[in-house]
Amino acid sequence: MSLAEELFDLDGQVALVTGASSGLGWRFGEVLAGQGAKVVLAARRSERLAQLQTVIEAAGGVAHCVELDVTGKDAISEAFDQAEKSFGTVTLLVNNAGISGQKNAVDMSDADWRRVMDVNLDAVWRASQEAARRLIKAGKPGSIINIASILGFQVAQSLSAYAVAKAGVVQITKALAVEYARHNIRVNAIAPGYIRTEINEEFFASEKSGPLVRQIPQRRIGSPEDLDASLMLLASEKASGFMTGSTIVVDGGHMWSMG
Ligand SMILES: NC(=O)c1ccc[n+]([C@@H]2O[C@H](COP(=O)([O-])OP(=O)(O)OC[C@H]3O[C@@H](n4cnc5c(N)ncnc54)[C@H](OP(=O)(O)O)[C@@H]3O)[C@@H](O)[C@H]2O)c1
Repeated sequence: MSLAEELFDLDGQVALVTGASSGLGWRFGEVLAGQGAKVVLAARRSERLAQLQTVIEAAGGVAHCVELDVTGKDAISEAFDQAEKSFGTVTLLVNNAGISGQKNAVDMSDADWRRVMDVNLDAVWRASQEAARRLIKAGKPGSIINIASILGFQVAQSLSAYAVAKAGVVQITKALAVEYARHNIRVNAIAPGYIRTEINEEFFASEKSGPLVRQIPQRRIGSPEDLDASLMLLASEKASGFMTGSTIVVDGGHMWSMG
């Protein structure tokens, strides 16, 4: 094995990826399985998860699908039960499920606000607690990777709830890192800039996206593959064993040019 292969080998790990039915989560599932982890794919659209399971298995990986709405506390616990039954304790959790909830602040209802918080932030707290309790009980080390956003540091028009929730994701990453370190559970985050997925494909297909792309120093939006190395780094104890509470920004320099 080369040093790189050894550093990023995830053999023996059990990963659970929320929001694995599209975009970044789909890619995360493929990458983690490719590195040797057994991967539990979770989201509401089970037919999409089944497609991804087929893709992973065709490439020689191991995956299992769990239908999950992350806004339900019992649902999260049940998903972990199913994961455990299939592969054993989840040692690697990727809190990826998210929605943008784009709306002007004056037009937003309480329910709109709550929905964005529930999916993007409350679910991160809930799933992380579930993962940590089970890891502690099993006496195993683990890694939790939260998918934040550069809007956890900056703001943008009509994305107030999203930006507040993602700022919360950056903060909960630090807070849980401090609390879970004594249990050998690391908590880190990735803060992507604009990456082409279903969450934004309509916008980037339109002419409206031109000025935004010109604002990005690298003059392009990212692709899900641009996050592969950050994911692999944070997933692997061998590669990032001394990292916890960190948020890796992957954005083509966008955060520093947002004004
Ligand atoms: N793309 C970007 O530019 C970008 C930038 C920064 C951060 N992010 C973050 O990256 C993450 C993934 O986004 P994406 O770009 O891949 O968007 P996407 O293609 O729209 O994927 C979002 C995923 O979240 C899942 N999801 C939504 N609500 C859910 C719920 N209640 N329960 C369970 N799963 C739910 C969806 O699955 P189901 O509909 O099947 O449930 C889907 O798999 C999000 O947290 C997003 O905020 C994205």
